[in-house]
Amino acid sequence: MKKTILNLIALTMVVSAFANGEHHDWEDNHVLQINREPARAYFIPYGEKQGDRMLSLNGDWQFRWTKTPEGRIKDFWHTDFDASGWKTLAVPANWEVNGYGTPIYVSAGYPFKIDPPYVTREPKKDWTTYEERNPTGQYRRTFTVPVGWQEGQTFLRFEGVMSAFYVWVNGQQAGYSQGSMEPSEFNVTRYIKTGENQIAVEVYKYSDGSYLEDQDFWRFGGIHRDVLLYHTPDVRLRDVAVRASMDGTLQINPQFSVYQGETGEGYRLVATLTDGLRLLCSDSIAADEVLDLDHKAKRMNEWYPQRGHRKFNRMDMKVANPKLWSCEQPNLYTLLLELNDAKGQTVERVTQQVGFRDINIRNGQLLINGQPIKIRGVNRHEHDPYTARVMTEERMLQDLRLMKEANINAVRLAHYPNCPRWYELCDSMGMYLMDEADCETHGLRGTLASTSDWGEAFLDRAIRMAERDKNHPSIIFWSLGNESGYGPNHAAMSAWLHEFDPTRPVHYEGAQGDPDPSTVDVISRFYPRVKQEYLNPGIPEGSDAERAENARWERLLEIAERPGDRCTWVGSDGGPRPVLTSEYAHSMGNALGNFKEYWDEINSNPRMLGGFIWDWVDQGIIRDGKVLYGGDFGDKPNLHAFCMNGIVLSDRTLTPKYYEVQAVYGNGPKAFAETKAPKPKASKTKAPTSYILHLRSSIKPQVYRAPTDNDKSFGNWLAKDWKRCGLDTLTIPMTTEQDGNEFVFTFEIPDTLPPLPRLGILIELPREYEQLTWYGRGPWDNYPDRKVSCPIGLWKSTVSEQYVHYPRPQDSGNHEDCTMIELKTKKGKRLRIEAVDEPFSFSALPYSAQYLASKTHDYELEDQGNTYLSIDCAVMGLGNSSCGPGVLKKYTIDKNKKHQLRIRILP
Ligand code: GAL
Repeated sequence: MKKTILNLIALTMVVSAFANGEHHDWEDNHVLQINREPARAYFIPYGEKQGDRMLSLNGDWQFRWTKTPEGRIKDFWHTDFDASGWKTLAVPANWEVNGYGTPIYVSAGYPFKIDPPYVTREPKKDWTTYEERNPTGQYRRTFTVPVGWQEGQTFLRFEGVMSAFYVWVNGQQAGYSQGSMEPSEFNVTRYIKTGENQIAVEVYKYSDGSYLEDQDFWRFGGIHRDVLLYHTPDVRLRDVAVRASMDGTLQINPQFSVYQGETGEGYRLVATLTDGLRLLCSDSIAADEVLDLDHKAKRMNEWYPQRGHRKFNRMDMKVANPKLWSCEQPNLYTLLLELNDAKGQTVERVTQQVGFRDINIRNGQLLINGQPIKIRGVNRHEHDPYTARVMTEERMLQDLRLMKEANINAVRLAHYPNCPRWYELCDSMGMYLMDEADCETHGLRGTLASTSDWGEAFLDRAIRMAERDKNHPSIIFWSLGNESGYGPNHAAMSAWLHEFDPTRPVHYEGAQGDPDPSTVDVISRFYPRVKQEYLNPGIPEGSDAERAENARWERLLEIAERPGDRCTWVGSDGGPRPVLTSEYAHSMGNALGNFKEYWDEINSNPRMLGGFIWDWVDQGIIRDGKVLYGGDFGDKPNLHAFCMNGIVLSDRTLTPKYYEVQAVYGNGPKAFAETKAPKPKASKTKAPTSYILHLRSSIKPQVYRAPTDNDKSFGNWLAKDWKRCGLDTLTIPMTTEQDGNEFVFTFEIPDTLPPLPRLGILIELPREYEQLTWYGRGPWDNYPDRKVSCPIGLWKSTVSEQYVHYPRPQDSGNHEDCTMIELKTKKGKRLRIEAVDEPFSFSALPYSAQYLASKTHDYELEDQGNTYLSIDCAVMGLGNSSCGPGVLKKYTIDKNKKHQLRIRILP
């Protein structure tokens, strides 16, 4: 009876799986590929010179797009299909920034109805995917096979397609693949012919693979990386793995493939290492020995023994005193691999850049070449405001140069393997990388990680990442992915990576517990707190209670101080694991509060490895000069501006956050010096009384600032209270004493008010007051908890330049520790303000706080015809609470203190 019921359940499951009709490879988590070549290291083989055996298929393709797979033309891949009426689309390109479909910004959760492995079930009616259920793009083009490609093998390579695709060559299906951020290769030899050939590709935006691609980013479809063909002889170097360590050992493990009855007999692979000028070492090996087509017991015993690990060092060389690779000195050598036939003729060449370096963990520290390092890192999405996920060489170089200038030494490839060129640039320019598998199931938490049914799909992503990227010295960690809970499928990925590559530690932030699972070699946390007191609004003074918004974030230093943790990685000494914050300093809008305090702590404990800021660049889409974010395309669901967390704006404009990172990351372990504002000198000028009287009448107390993204934060905690109390229009009690041109403003903060963003006065001036000079912190804006990059000095600017154009309007332009401001008109009219004793904070902006708060996009801002001069005796810090802990208590305004602003106002 029991059995019958079980059978019945099984049957019902099968029936429901097919209820919607045909079976789809792209909705089947067991069909990850058809006819795809095994993954391998990234290289394009050549004959005489680089590129001579490859044909790029980038450029214009005929293109047709439909909202659903049903709308596609089923036989479009036939050679005689007439696509002459089709439009063209470039490869690589994302559809949604080229007029096809809606960009959707989903943070956590899926843009489609959750029902794994299906992606086309009916979602809510107002969701974008209700209509655009599974956008499908059909591509066609022709190519001419180069002369000389008739013999040998031809491979078709896609570097990245979102998210699943079929390919046909000359009307025959050559394969299927999914996994948007890994390459897919197909052997197309038997499909191609001399002269003109025809290729057709059908791309599905969503597939069962999308369940592992739920990163917090824009959901874009299309062929977003290069497509190319390359040619090889019938005996070819299929793959090569290289290990180079600081003692000069160079080990090479090549793999060959043979076709057309070839056995590889007589073929030798010759490896030579040069430094550009000199040959440093060389070795060779017989291809058939490695191939071992006969499976000789003796050979297998040597290389793949019955017990214990495989042997790696097919070629084993030694270089005396190699120049080591590190991010500061990225010394690279060129490894040339030449495959020679029985006659000694070179039939194929491959090169790889080699960096000699070691990674170890000792005493809880991560060592590169024996030296402990700190990760001064950023997370980076592949994002361009115009091309979406398509990365150009210029953009990558720009990012890397800007990072190097900001003293950033490490990038976490959040959250997927990047385009191959990025790694080459990082190898040569010197940047440590955390390479991360394209595996995030945020909307399903740990469900899929714990389901064996999805084990293969998880593993596929780790394998394809590590196989492709294994030879890059810049990669110093493998990461299992992001925000997918923790389960046996992660354990499998970790075990695979550890065995495949014992030279690199494994990371995954989701691997947590007491202790964290031994499958990870570093302890990793998001958005930790520093070990200091935070503002806890609404909680009575003296209470031990904490606001949940703060309490949810761990204190990293406490983890580092805890004894008993053990690293099990072979590259470690078995001591404690380093403690890393893989995401911290959430830089949404005007942010990056108490960045210095993070680094005081990181420098205080050797186990603290450092962190990766969230994140490098705002993910805005620029259309007609307007910076757009989630919801601006009518996309639903969406999480508004939550994708705008960069220390640089979408178009890579630098922000004050960038400079603060540059200063703090550049400071090294030495303490951050606090500069004090000098005592102001009294000015001799006497003011005409009428002028002062006029001005006095326009001075108003001001306690409001346009909420920053941090002020709004997850729970909207501060901004909500400000709104409730009407802080934006509130006039708090202020007494004014005047002696000539000296003013003393005294403020009383009513008990009932929430924590205040600022306390001071507002002077509205005609907009012609544009030229600005001040003595205080500059040149860019700064706040009590973000001012390391701003020395005290005499600075000049204009009011127009003072506002920082974050995508969502908010407060900016504050300057701390000021003792003098001068505003001038073109005609020479002047207003000068001096501190009498204590320095003040100020901002001079072309917008009022209320106006900024009323707008949702930067492009809506219009000059208001006034210059708004705010002078404050206290300003609250910025904190991190757009995704992280709030403001440190020491950077907030003490309500119990009597606050006074003493200034001199002079014409
Ligand atoms: C993290 C996540 C990132 C991003 C960030 C918030 O939890 O890993 O991808 O979503 O939060 O901006």
